Amino acid sequence: MSDVITADGNLVIRRIRDQPDDYERMVAWRNSPHVREWWDPDDPPLTLAGAIDELGLRATTDDPTTSCFIEIDGEPVGFIQFYPWDAEEEYLATIGVSVPSGSWGLDIFIGASGLIGQGIGARAVRVLCDHLFAEEAATAVALITEAGNARAQAAYARAGMHVSGAPFEDTDLRDGQRVESVLMIHDRPAGTADGR
Ligand SMILES: CC(C)(COP(=O)(O)OP(=O)(O)OC[C@H]1O[C@@H](n2cnc3c(N)ncnc32)[C@H](O)[C@@H]1OP(=O)(O)O)[C@@H](O)C(=O)NCCC(=O)NCCS
Repeated sequence: MSDVITADGNLVIRRIRDQPDDYERMVAWRNSPHVREWWDPDDPPLTLAGAIDELGLRATTDDPTTSCFIEIDGEPVGFIQFYPWDAEEEYLATIGVSVPSGSWGLDIFIGASGLIGQGIGARAVRVLCDHLFAEEAATAVALITEAGNARAQAAYARAGMHVSGAPFEDTDLRDGQRVESVLMIHDRPAGTADGR
C-alpha cells in the first residue's frame, strides 16, 4: 500500500513510517529552535522514545490523527498532521471554540530552518486542504494558531484560509500561560467534487 496521501508536482505528503529514520528526523526537527518557538514551547525536548510513543502508536492503531512528512523532490522537509474535528469535541469545549460539523483540522511545521519562508508551508496546506475536500468530504478545514504567529497566519491565508471569530486561550502553554490563539478556516469551495 502506498504511503502517499497526496502530491502536487515535486511536493509529496506521505505517512510517517514506523522506522528509525523518520523518528530520528522528527526528534531533530521538534527540538530545533525555530520549531520549539511555536510548537509546545513549554514541553521538554522530544526524546526518541517520546517520538516512537507519539507517532508509532498513531501509525499502528486506529488513532484518528494521520501524521505525515512533507517531501520536496523526495527529501523530507517538514511535518503535517490531520484529523477529523469531530473526534476532538472535548478539547473544543475546553477552549470554547466551535467548528463546522464534518470539518477537518491540521497542524504543520517546516523542519529544515533554511526552508522557512519559501512558500512550502502555504503550498502544503493548500494541497492537503484540496485532498481533505475531495477525499474526506471535509465540510471545512480549520486550524488553531497562536495570535502572535504572523508568519504562520500569512502562510495559511496564502493557502486560502481566513481568521474566524475572536482570539481565545488555547490549552497550550507558553511560560506557564495559556496562549492567545485564533481559529483559521478554509471554507469548502463551492462545487468541490467529493471523491469518496
Ligand atoms: C508556519 C510555517 C509552517 C509556514 O510555512 P512557510 O513555508 O515558512 O510559509 P510560507 O513561505 O508559505 O509563507 C510565509 C508567509 O509569511 C510571511 N512572513 C514571513 N515572515 C513573517 C513575519 N515575521 N511576519 C509576518 N509575515 C511573515 C511571508 O511573506 C509569507 O507570506 P506571503 O506568502 O503572503 O508573502 C513555517 O514558517 C514554520 O514551520 N514555522 C515554525 C513552526 C510554526 O510556527 N508552526 C506553525 C504552528 S501553528
